Amino acid sequence: MNILVTGGCGFIGSNFIIYMLGKYPDVNIVNLDLLTYAGNLENLKSLESSPRYRFARGDITDRDIVSVLASEKPQAIVNFAAESHVDRSIIDPSAFIKTNIMGVQVLLDACREFNIPRFVQISTDEVYGSLGPVGSFSESNPLEPNSPYSASKASADLLAHAYFKTYGLDVVITRCSNNYGPYQFPEKLIPLMITNALEDKVLPVYGDGLNVRDWIHVLDHCKAVDIVMRKGLPGQVYNIGGRCEYYNIDIVRLIINKLGKSESLIKFVKDRPGHDRRYCMNADKLSSSLGWEPEISFPEGIDQTIQWYLDNQKWWEGIKTGEYLKYYDTWYGDR
Ligand code: NAD
Ligand code: DAU
Repeated sequence: MNILVTGGCGFIGSNFIIYMLGKYPDVNIVNLDLLTYAGNLENLKSLESSPRYRFARGDITDRDIVSVLASEKPQAIVNFAAESHVDRSIIDPSAFIKTNIMGVQVLLDACREFNIPRFVQISTDEVYGSLGPVGSFSESNPLEPNSPYSASKASADLLAHAYFKTYGLDVVITRCSNNYGPYQFPEKLIPLMITNALEDKVLPVYGDGLNVRDWIHVLDHCKAVDIVMRKGLPGQVYNIGGRCEYYNIDIVRLIINKLGKSESLIKFVKDRPGHDRRYCMNADKLSSSLGWEPEISFPEGIDQTIQWYLDNQKWWEGIKTGEYLKYYDTWYGDR
């Protein structure tokens, strides 16, 4: 099976490529990635000499490069490419609109032109908006995104659905909750808190710290994407979630305790504007129809993840320089 993965140098995409090439001897992957600030060739260094892996640097909004790769007629395109950080979308939504919406249009058009049998759009639970203290999101919930990031992802979902309805394109959409694990860029909560704690830097917790996220290990997400890519029904949406809710502050305290650091590093800072209070995914459809279940418990996964950041200090120290520091100062400077 030949797969065109987009955004494969980011956190989830690189874990997906490593997982797929490790699991299936008959899978070949081409990875199209622009290498934005979030893309890192180091993540896939172990595959550089693999005859089943090829990297192409390029933008999913660039019709020429997308056409060249789509004309090779992969059996599926799996789109991880996106601007993915909510806080950056608040600073400037432009890149989010371009990549997350227009880029998806380019990929969908290429699927039509080259008769690609399957397009997998990697979406997010954030398209559903925010939950109160009880209940969970199912696939039939309305789309009520609250940030420029989630609005751009919801737009892409609608576009993908429209191509299914209008052109009969074989599209499946996955919506996953918060991922954690190796290779996550240290702007997101868990790797930011681990690496800041290791550097004895302030741990900035937004608002009262009582926002809730539903955590899933990235490998469980990758396995779900594989199953949906192979067996999902055309035009369907599949929620993916870890059934693992935590308050942000409890995650931060847990990391501090595991690293033997002091809680005095915690600083409650000005809240994220439009901050969604709670996410919780109902993934029963995926479990009952395609037999997927998350396998990695949070206590096990977080221990492995902390250990990964301890073992790969060079990886994240290399990131926390230059552009990262400018972003950090812009966002956290006045908080
Ligand atoms: P990431 O920011 O770590 O990686 C994004 C990758 O896309 C990078 O390699 C980047 O270089 C590439 N990219 C960005 N713009 C591009 C463009 N125009 N053309 C080609 N490549 C481009 O993101 P992630 O956390 O790995 O998320 C991957 C996908 O999963 C995203 O679509 C995101 O919305 C979705 N998602 C993420 C989570 C999560 O918790 N991280 C949860 C649910 C869904
Ligand atoms: O839910 C899926 C989404 O999860 C994905 O679609 C996004 O791509 C991904 O970035 C993530 O979005 P969140 O906004 O939930 O993740 P983030 O790690 O940025 O924040 C998690 C929670 O932690 C959120 O409530 C905000 C809070 N937070 C985050 C940061 C970076 C803090 O309190 N302090 C921080 O410094």
